[in-house]
Amino acid sequence: MEMSHLISLLILLSFETFGDSLRFPKNFKFGVATASYQIEGGWNASGKGENIWDRLTHEHPDWVKDHQNGDVACDSYHLWKQDVEMLKYLNVTFYRFSLSWSRILPSGFSNYINPDGVRYYNDLINELLKNGIEPMVTLYHWDLPQPLQEVGGWPNPLLAKYFEDYAKIAFELFGDRVKTWITFNEPPEVCESGYAEGANAPCYKSSGIGDYMCGKTLLLAHARAYHIYDKLYRPKQKGKVGITIDAIWAEPKTNRIKDIKAAERQMQMDLGWWAHPIFSKSGDYPEIMKNRIGNLSKAENFSSSRLPQFTENEIRFIQGSFDFFGLNHYSSWLVSDLKIPVNAPVSHWKDVSVLMQQDPKWKPSAATWLKVVPWGLRKLLNWIKKEYNNPPVYITENGFADFGELNDFGRLDYLKGYLNALLKAILLDGCNVKAYTCWSLMDNMEWRDGYTLKFGLYYVNFTNPKRTRTEKASAEFYKTIIETRTILEDLEQVIVL
Ligand code: BGC
Repeated sequence: MEMSHLISLLILLSFETFGDSLRFPKNFKFGVATASYQIEGGWNASGKGENIWDRLTHEHPDWVKDHQNGDVACDSYHLWKQDVEMLKYLNVTFYRFSLSWSRILPSGFSNYINPDGVRYYNDLINELLKNGIEPMVTLYHWDLPQPLQEVGGWPNPLLAKYFEDYAKIAFELFGDRVKTWITFNEPPEVCESGYAEGANAPCYKSSGIGDYMCGKTLLLAHARAYHIYDKLYRPKQKGKVGITIDAIWAEPKTNRIKDIKAAERQMQMDLGWWAHPIFSKSGDYPEIMKNRIGNLSKAENFSSSRLPQFTENEIRFIQGSFDFFGLNHYSSWLVSDLKIPVNAPVSHWKDVSVLMQQDPKWKPSAATWLKVVPWGLRKLLNWIKKEYNNPPVYITENGFADFGELNDFGRLDYLKGYLNALLKAILLDGCNVKAYTCWSLMDNMEWRDGYTLKFGLYYVNFTNPKRTRTEKASAEFYKTIIETRTILEDLEQVIVL
């Protein structure tokens, strides 16, 4: 037996013997995450410009479930010191938060920098460092400055350059202290929800066309930010730059070949759409994606593929533009093959042609799309390992939705399951995962669901002008995991009421 197999077998046996008592590696990092629009408030404070979520929630309050908006949200614009106290209490290694582009560059363009925006993030970053917490900063978590939407938003290829300008300013201003940068949070959501399904701002419905245009700009924008960092800032600042992609695990619904193929197609055309150009050896979109969309476009009588192509130079520019793979993962789906007629309306879903369902036996959450399937995370991490040559992965979001209860046992159970699956992926399967981030530090503005769904380790009282924060059972649970680097067995130990 080979040595590596023997070691795996021994670890497996100790899992059987000691259950969950195995530990996360010494240098493994734990954190929590938030995003600017979801927590900051201060939507027009001290020179901040309007963004697409301000516009959507003000013009169409009825498009948000509870007709609310992020004007005040958790009021972190004023209460950031309390946030840092909570982070300190949790004992996290790092805090992932995002910059509001419009707070720094009110018009989106780099011709004017808003001093108050710079002051706000300097204060936050300095306070984090004073408390021994590393800042992990996302440049773009969905809140595009409205003036950039007026010129078309992400389907406009010029936005790649404007994003680079913005990234450069952020590196210049904060890069002496920020060592981990995420260019984009969840490109699939930016382009699919924003430009295909009409689900997120700016709520356009151009599936199979607008989403692919958006995707091309976004991949180039990411690579521009990566390269400008590499060239101008990395030598002195010595930080890391990556991108965060969200992915489900697509489990074949049956073991019929066509369902197995459908599940793989789903992985390639959703996660692979973004990851293949950056993380694969060959670069560019996955072959299957280029072929299917190319063939369908021909059959639909388009003059060229609806998937805009990259030039050879662009392929090389994007390929390898990463220091780590940021991964957001919440849940899994059962996938089967679906035949969609060629004359059906153009859409990304027609291009993928799969049926997605969730097993009614999976434990539910308050969000219809989020079922508790811990083994899906392990399979997903193994897929990434195999597909992209085991890159360093930072799990930048993972979390559970409920209605805000303080004794949030559903969240405890979720965290326990997913962290166990993660531990197995690291120790048994050799997946190169370096960090885990729980979404979210506190309850916040859950986009089109408003304040109806809660993901926080801390409860926030949104009817109290002081936006008081109270720790939930899961905060204690997560804190204990961070401090012991292992997973508690007994959920009852952590009741806070
Ligand atoms: C997003 C967060 C969101 C969370 C829960 C992720 O897709 O990055 O902003 O709150 O999911 O829906």
